[in-house]
Amino acid sequence: MTSELVTAIIGQMAIDPRGRHGLSHWARVYENGLRLAAETGADRQVVELFALFHDSRRLTDQADHDHGPRGTLLAERYHRDGLLRLDEQPLRLLLTACRLHTAARTHDDPTVRTCFDADRLDLARIGATVDPAFLCTEAARNPQLIAWASERSRAGTVPDNLLGRALQSLPAPAP
Ligand SMILES: [Fe+2]
Ligand SMILES: [Fe+2]
Repeated sequence: MTSELVTAIIGQMAIDPRGRHGLSHWARVYENGLRLAAETGADRQVVELFALFHDSRRLTDQADHDHGPRGTLLAERYHRDGLLRLDEQPLRLLLTACRLHTAARTHDDPTVRTCFDADRLDLARIGATVDPAFLCTEAARNPQLIAWASERSRAGTVPDNLLGRALQSLPAPAP
């Protein structure tokens, strides 16, 4: 993930990058995903890029059922344009995870499952409780991990990673 790519994605966002589906959420999904990847063996590069792309084409913070497929189209376009540099196999996993993250319960591939759970572990920010029955990796069903992720989600913790730092460096909102 390059800062050039992060800047391009923030620049095309239709929703508020400070909102509940914005950069603070993405930065936690990134960290959740890397924590899970240590156990699931997921492709870390795909997990990081999923955090960046999966909600990048939301048009609203309300229900928006097609935002996954739209995020997939954006990743394909950036790959064609050379902004997203990724080999064919990880690209396919990234596109699948983005396209299906709200529509599918689980998936055959452990990297895709890790992406789904990285997102689902950050539900407490909207007042929801993480239900282990809706998680699809054994690693994510760990009660201590759910408690850790939910506490950060509720508190709006902004992790110190590329996405968290991008949020901190946004210009002040217009009055
Ligand atoms: Fe989403
Ligand atoms: Fe999300």
